[in-house]
Amino acid sequence: MHRRIIVPSALAASLLLAIPASAADFVPGAPGIGDSYYPASGNGGYDVSHYDLRLKYQPATDLLEGTATLVATARQNLSRFNLDLGLKVSDVRVNGRPAAFTTSGEHELEVTPATPLAKGKSLSVVVRYAGKPSDLKIGGWTAWHRTPDGGVAAQEPDSAVWWFPSNDHPLDKATFDVSVLVPDGTQAISNGVLQSQSTKLGWTRFNWRSNKPQATYLATLAVGKFDITTDTTANGLPVLNAYSKDLGDIDGAARASIERTAEVAEWLESVYGPYPFNSLGGYVPNVTSGYALETQTRPFYSPRQFANGANVSVVVHELAHQWYGDSVSVADWKDIWINEGFARYSQWLWSEKEGEGTAQELADYVYRSRAADDPFWTVKPGDPGAENQFDIAVYDRGALALQALRDEVGDEDFFAILKGWPQEHAYGNAHVADFVRYAERVSGKPLAGLFDTWLFQPVKPAGTAAAAAGV
Ligand code: ARG
Ligand code: ZN
Repeated sequence: MHRRIIVPSALAASLLLAIPASAADFVPGAPGIGDSYYPASGNGGYDVSHYDLRLKYQPATDLLEGTATLVATARQNLSRFNLDLGLKVSDVRVNGRPAAFTTSGEHELEVTPATPLAKGKSLSVVVRYAGKPSDLKIGGWTAWHRTPDGGVAAQEPDSAVWWFPSNDHPLDKATFDVSVLVPDGTQAISNGVLQSQSTKLGWTRFNWRSNKPQATYLATLAVGKFDITTDTTANGLPVLNAYSKDLGDIDGAARASIERTAEVAEWLESVYGPYPFNSLGGYVPNVTSGYALETQTRPFYSPRQFANGANVSVVVHELAHQWYGDSVSVADWKDIWINEGFARYSQWLWSEKEGEGTAQELADYVYRSRAADDPFWTVKPGDPGAENQFDIAVYDRGALALQALRDEVGDEDFFAILKGWPQEHAYGNAHVADFVRYAERVSGKPLAGLFDTWLFQPVKPAGTAAAAAGV
């Protein structure tokens, strides 16, 4: 090894590093990341790049035991920091050394490392924990679905605190390895690619990997008895779908919808550009709730989505979110329109392609069927409030805003905007205002007034010419 000649600037730098920081320079990380709607969500002071979750789950008792290893970087001089988790913690280590910890609130885990952490320092945080996720209610609500043969974590805006410690906000995305041990004959489903599975002593381990940045609420876990189908897309991506063995009458309708995932994704690529992830699929556990969720690479579908037969439209919605929501994520939960407005509009585009009504016809229908005094118009899709985050207006009025944009800039610019945006912010975060500026840049037209009318005013906008004419 060479001895370096120290030049003055390097000398100055090394002297600076050698000055010990006083304890006062190290401060606690904030207990929230600064979200407008959910002040306790996420945390300040560090950034996670990878989660390794090693879990064991027993369907008979709903007992989940885990060791989570977070690979992170300190973003400030930290005396301590918070994680978000609702289950009971038995041990925490930071960079290999035991750390003190306490819990507060509904899901705050406060960790004090043995020595303070300098800004820029890389961290490994190991958390051992256990509990019954079904015992955990936050504000009377749960993201954990107990099923007759297992359990499922899938909910928005929060599901992580029911099953792993995290910096629980879309602003801090990371890659995930999820390894789950379940009794033989039971399957564990998660995001990304099933790397391997192995069986011994009556237990089977499933090793999943999601290798692109993923928001914590888009990580999912489903344990139960599933029938799994696999395929490969024309582009060589693995497809894996999982159907509860207990779907009864809706089993056929679920398969008739979700087995079209690759076809739908290919069509979406023609509109939004290359699919952003390395695998595809969907899963249907035997839950009783009614919604679906765009869990990354592998959406969650409730059986009720298929109550009336095949529902390819919901597959279109959840796959559209892979671009609009999962790759490009909200920077703040008040920005939910950049997810839901586009996922709904994608369903309208699919209808247009299938000859079941154009987006314009569907927009006119929604516009006309909501009278001026309908509370629908009091919800502002651009900032709906936490209580209305998933109100139908965020979806339908949110899609009307896109139809208004299309009418204003014309098809050529409109589709250039829809395809350009997921590239512009791939694997990142954005605000509603970023989209408005982007649409103005691509079209060369001032659009602030149009978006203000459709996204931010609590009244029914004056109709488009076509709507007014009843076309
Ligand atoms: N992003 C999901 C969807 O639109 C919404 C899930 C909301 N959750 C709920 N319980 N409504 O597909
Ligand atoms: Zn959605």
